[in-house]
Amino acid sequence: MNNKHTISIISFIFLILSVTIYSGCAKKEDTVKIGVAGPMTGDQSKMGLDIKNGADMAVKEWNQKGGVLGKKIELLVEDDQHDPKQAVSVANKLVNAGAAGIIGHFNSSTSIPASAVYNKAKMPMITPASTNPQLTEQGFTNVFRVCGRDDQQGLVAATFVASVLKLKKVAVIHDKTTYGQGLADEFVKALAKRVEVVYYNGVIQGDKDFRAVLTSMKEKKPELLYFGGIYPDGGLLIKQARELGITIPFMSGDGVIDQKFVEIAGTASEGSYLTFSPDPEHIPGAKDFLKNYKAGYGEPGPYSIYAYDATNVMLSAIETAKNTDGPTVNKTLHSMKHTGALGEIQWNEKGDIVHSPYVVWITKDGKFKEHWKPGEAGQ
Ligand code: ALA
Repeated sequence: MNNKHTISIISFIFLILSVTIYSGCAKKEDTVKIGVAGPMTGDQSKMGLDIKNGADMAVKEWNQKGGVLGKKIELLVEDDQHDPKQAVSVANKLVNAGAAGIIGHFNSSTSIPASAVYNKAKMPMITPASTNPQLTEQGFTNVFRVCGRDDQQGLVAATFVASVLKLKKVAVIHDKTTYGQGLADEFVKALAKRVEVVYYNGVIQGDKDFRAVLTSMKEKKPELLYFGGIYPDGGLLIKQARELGITIPFMSGDGVIDQKFVEIAGTASEGSYLTFSPDPEHIPGAKDFLKNYKAGYGEPGPYSIYAYDATNVMLSAIETAKNTDGPTVNKTLHSMKHTGALGEIQWNEKGDIVHSPYVVWITKDGKFKEHWKPGEAGQ
């Protein structure tokens, strides 16, 4: 063998060795990526950061135990600014980044358009908070939610108004979004004409002055104001209503039940009725979550625990599926029975949770308290 040949062979061995070493290193650095998306900045960022923190806590716990499929889990946080177009761009970004699954989005108006992107990529999506029925009525096998639906939530609100408060005339205002208007319409539908809707109107989300709408509402002499929307607008709406001398009870849903609502409305928030799921403080399985979340992130928001459960069930499905192949994980999620901090998680064929109990909460001394649940006296 001449020198030239020897050099070529040595170079070849080096090449093979370096490729092997490089791919070995690359494999070591390889992670399982999970996306979390919601309004991380702007007026609804409290809710976005709540779900980010819930997901982050679950990921940290898994990583402490060695990750998933023997790899570290990397959380990719994306801000959709509760804007449908931004949500689609964020969804494409997460697909291109190779995320194995997505926890999100927060708003139904973002989850629905984003779900089409994830569906095309066959990527599993579990929303902790999007309650509009349409999301799981699209026939997508990759879409799941750990929260309830607005047809269930609207029904509980309507039952409370008609059978417990026994009112005859209500006003309905919504924020014209998929969620806000959708929830308002489910409430009206569930009233089933037992209660007259004497005023129905939409406001522009983000507006700072609702006085004109409230003044025209007042003329119709409703006995309750029902609002479909999120806390920034809900807080201002009731604050301005009280300033205008409107004293009727205020009722809304899961988008409003946050301390930020109390901060914005001040004492005007007192006595507000809000529909949401039961208090985790009374759920034995939520004890560790509450303790650890409070230590790591402060007081949990309404959807922090939902994001935590959604992330845990997503990672458990990946572990059970033994890979991150989307269709396999989706199939696994559909057949799973998972015990989360909130209790049993099991989905029907649409991706809706089998049990989703809504109750009515009341705002008292600036705090939210469970007030009434369906089946209790008053119906
Ligand atoms: N439940 C709210 C929505 O669906 C947060 O937009």
